[in-house]
Amino acid sequence: MDTLRIFDTTLRDGEQSPGASLNRAEKLEIARQLETLGVDIIEAGFPITSNDDFEAVRQIAGELQRATVCGLSRCVAADVDRAGEAVKDAAHGRIHVFCATSRIHREFKLKKAFDEIIKISVEHIQRARQFVDDVEFSPEDGSRTELDHLVEITHAAIEAGATTINIPDTVGYATPAEYGHIFAYVREKLPIIDEQGIILSSHCHNDLGLAVANSLAAAANGARQIECTINGIGERAGNAALEEIVMAIHTRGEAFGLRTNINTKKIYPTSRMVSHLTGLDVQRNKAIVGDNAFAHESGIHQDGMLKNRSTYEIMDPLEVGIPESKLVMGKHSGRAAFRQRLDQLGYAVDDETLQRCFEAFKALADKKKDVYDEDIEVLVEQQLDAASRRDLWTLTSVQVTTGTNAVPTATVTLTDTSGKADTDASTGDGPIDAIYSTIQRITGIRAELLDYQIRAVTGGKDAQGEVRVELRHHDKRVRGRGASTDVLEASAKAYLAAINRLRNVDAQPESTREVAQP
Ligand code: KIV
Ligand code: ZN
Repeated sequence: MDTLRIFDTTLRDGEQSPGASLNRAEKLEIARQLETLGVDIIEAGFPITSNDDFEAVRQIAGELQRATVCGLSRCVAADVDRAGEAVKDAAHGRIHVFCATSRIHREFKLKKAFDEIIKISVEHIQRARQFVDDVEFSPEDGSRTELDHLVEITHAAIEAGATTINIPDTVGYATPAEYGHIFAYVREKLPIIDEQGIILSSHCHNDLGLAVANSLAAAANGARQIECTINGIGERAGNAALEEIVMAIHTRGEAFGLRTNINTKKIYPTSRMVSHLTGLDVQRNKAIVGDNAFAHESGIHQDGMLKNRSTYEIMDPLEVGIPESKLVMGKHSGRAAFRQRLDQLGYAVDDETLQRCFEAFKALADKKKDVYDEDIEVLVEQQLDAASRRDLWTLTSVQVTTGTNAVPTATVTLTDTSGKADTDASTGDGPIDAIYSTIQRITGIRAELLDYQIRAVTGGKDAQGEVRVELRHHDKRVRGRGASTDVLEASAKAYLAAINRLRNVDAQPESTREVAQP
């Protein structure tokens, strides 16, 4: 079987999801997890857009040994140089150069003739080749580009030294038949592709919900690299979802004659980590990684499942890393068993994080009789999150008086990194408003609450409540999560996580984003 390369762009196109900014430490954490997952290429960022993006790509490139690390670049000399600088220490580095080619983009966005677009593309591919041997070129909005123009620019890009040609469906407009045909056509017109072992690549957006179908149509017509993101996050309706592509190939390998290098058992923990660090929820019915993906509700389905799982399940949840046993441990479980459970859940943590997670687990097990896998996941993610945010404030205590005839009043104590504790109190329209006003008084940060959501992590009346909030402060939007068996404490933790993040996220001014990002 031929190998289909998986190019993950969670840290670049995925991070362009509104409100999903990741800081450098979070990007590094996700990149490590992506390498463990087995992705072939990681697009780690767009180095010219900010110092933080540059540093993230540089650190990831310096650390990862197996995966190729890629930086994005427009056809602008400073972009190419910055991307080249960022990947120069990579074991395997790539520069991804792009330039829009469709008539709409030529006329309205670039205001350049096609010949000029070929010229600048060639120049910048050649410039990129001075830094690395591995250069990818994307004719942006490729699926809406005239086919013969696409053939011409592909040929010119290969002659200039590009080794991968990615044809994006930038606005998610193509149908599977059309998109597949583009690949078949370009390959037929340019025998040089197969002769020189050039890799054709797909990059699909999900505006019509066709991103995965289009990516697979490209693969069926000769694409040997698919660009995708964890949980399908990305601009607008997102990008093709990595987990769906990989499991389609894994489950229906014979239909495609393809395989991937992905360790499918790491899919679920990776999905959870990305959801947690970006603050972007996975919808319940999302294929492969949604909460309902392997749940059976109807009596007829449950009866069939009990007789034979294959009646209603085409994949084994264990194959994607969803642990089968739900009940895990309690307060008598030891450190070794806890570490083993983390391994089984797909988390590779260092000793220091393990110790912090274990302490948090013991504290939880004191409050809650049965600790489920979902509880452990939330707990580990909180520890990883706090470590990568280098929190300025931690919640020491929160107390609220409230009731039908009482004015809700919260007393909160926060401790800063120097160990100094600060206590204050405030009233509010309700208990949560009172808590948030108090945190604002202590931290001096008045952020607007845009969204507040609460859910039970597991069933049962002793379940942990998980709260997610989204805050806006000037031009920055940040998310935070907190979990506890006490929902008021969970609310305080979520708000404080977002406030801490505000101090760490190097959010870019909207204006820079618009100019720089494709
Ligand atoms: O969607 C797109 O066209 C892109 C390119 C930069 C590949 O993200
Ligand atoms: Zn894209």
